[in-house]
Amino acid sequence: MKTKVISYSFTGNNDALAAGFAREVGAEHIRITEPKKRTAGKILKENIFKKDPKINLSGDEISEDDFIVFFSPFWFGKVASPLRSYLKQLSGKAFKYGFISLCVGFEHPDGLDQFKTELGAMLRREPEFVIIKKVADLLPSDPPPTQTMLNDFRVSPEDLESLLPSLIEGAGGKFPR
Ligand SMILES: Cc1cc2nc3c(=O)[nH]c(=O)nc-3n(C[C@H](O)[C@H](O)[C@H](O)COP(=O)(O)O)c2cc1C
Repeated sequence: MKTKVISYSFTGNNDALAAGFAREVGAEHIRITEPKKRTAGKILKENIFKKDPKINLSGDEISEDDFIVFFSPFWFGKVASPLRSYLKQLSGKAFKYGFISLCVGFEHPDGLDQFKTELGAMLRREPEFVIIKKVADLLPSDPPPTQTMLNDFRVSPEDLESLLPSLIEGAGGKFPR
């Protein structure tokens, strides 16, 4: 069994977190990218028309005895569409996995348990862990951050240093190499 970190990121936060996590646990890091350039407008359109974008990965990079740690932002309360495209390609495989997101404030209409159930239904196995890290927790609370500050937040090397140990511990601490 090998641990692999697979991430999608639009503005770099989740890729930076995933890269640090992979480095710390000695895992391979694979990025989901798209052949076409993405814009915020495209995210909105896709959300309305529920389209799955084309991505660079096929699913062959994972085998059934791998342990996968996914990283992705949320868009409009749902996992970002490029990761969703990838998860759909993996639905026939039975591998262990966890999910981590650095996002503004995760607002799945039915909460975290429902999100876990959805992941479980898509991948035919419940996640080992789901960790949601909120950008607001990385910013000073007084005065409270504005929406612009939250949206424009980019994770720094200092943020990574403080976040990674708790993420690794929260994810179970031990990862097969
Ligand atoms: C179009 C759009 C929709 C978003 N919707 C959500 C959301 O529903 N919940 C949330 O917590 N964050 C939401 N965000 C914020 C991102 O999840 C957050 O900025 C994240 O840190 C970006 O990660 P990235 O740099 O890896 O792309 C949204 C961002 C964009 C651009």
